Amino acid sequence: MSTTITVIPGDGIGPDIVDATLKVLDKAGCNFTYEFADAGLTALEKHGELIPQQTLDLIEKNKVTLKGPLTTPIGEGFTSINVSLRKTFNLYANVRPVLSLKGTRARYDNVDIITIRENTEGMYSGIGQKVSEDGTIAEAMSVITREGAERICRFAFELACKEGRKKVTSVHKANIMKSTSGLFLKVAREVAKEFPEIEFEEMIVDATCMKLVMDPSQFDVIVTTNLFGDILSDLCAGLIGGLGLAPGANIGTDAAIFEAVHGSAPDIAGQDLANPTALILGAVQMLEYLGMAEQAGKIRDAVRDTIAAGECVTRDLGGNAGTQAFTDAILARL
Ligand code: NAI
Ligand code: MG
Repeated sequence: MSTTITVIPGDGIGPDIVDATLKVLDKAGCNFTYEFADAGLTALEKHGELIPQQTLDLIEKNKVTLKGPLTTPIGEGFTSINVSLRKTFNLYANVRPVLSLKGTRARYDNVDIITIRENTEGMYSGIGQKVSEDGTIAEAMSVITREGAERICRFAFELACKEGRKKVTSVHKANIMKSTSGLFLKVAREVAKEFPEIEFEEMIVDATCMKLVMDPSQFDVIVTTNLFGDILSDLCAGLIGGLGLAPGANIGTDAAIFEAVHGSAPDIAGQDLANPTALILGAVQMLEYLGMAEQAGKIRDAVRDTIAAGECVTRDLGGNAGTQAFTDAILARL
């Protein structure tokens, strides 16, 4: 039986990298049925809203979604579509792995870090956003709940156990943000006690940035709040050679959305320049989530070998191949 997944091509480079990813999934014998849905700027232009109801219905119906990046118009009262999708479907865990690949222009060859970012609370809770009438004072609220902190910390430790990881680092700023970051850290310490086989470490976010850049090999699994996780995961992408290589899974209890960490890259959209690797690796996370380990492994190997061979890679990796030629090289290895 064929599994049906929802596919959102998205904005900017989205349609190109989604197209590349679907070709790779088909070639690897995944036998999916795709139901396409609009979101983002594309949806606003076609349907007059950023996330039409039929898109929400499809995400809910099929449970598993592959999503291209979405452009959120800045200002004008638009809330981020990604933030609202994560909140609507309670996709509380954002899983962002980075693994060094041979053949990139990265500074390191020994990075293997999974950032687990809390996806629904913290500075991105969207609560209490206001600007004073005269435009001189702006406010927003950061909200951390015990329940939210507990489920993300438990998710991180359970993932560490399942994947044979050794250490979980809780990243915080509890010395300054005593209430919010303080509660998160307190809960992390409690949850850590339930997993004595996993080493637990706590680290302040600014020091974490420095240590990641100095020696990323000392990190294993990182668990942190929404804003810190957003920033740290881009930093981690930089350690392995850029945003074109970093995937992300948004996982909740009833639905999951798989994507790239990067955005719609308007500066290179429509020019056949985008590296589709991040989204292809997001699709690999999706296959693992669906229990399709064999296809996941095949695709991961084909991507790794194509980049390592270096003859036909995209510009961000130091080559001069376009999105399509690079994808064809991956397809040839499959
Ligand atoms: P961006 O991630 O789109 O681009 C940052 C830089 O990385 C650009 O120079 C871009 O060319 C490059 N880049 C990104 N992906 C690449 C790829 N696959 N291959 C080669 N180079 C790549 O971030 P930016 O420019 O800040 O945001 C653009 C739009 O994307 C904004 O509207 C933002 O809201 C949205 N966005 C959406 C996300 C999502 O849908 N998950 C995540 C982040 C941003
Ligand atoms: Mg981000």
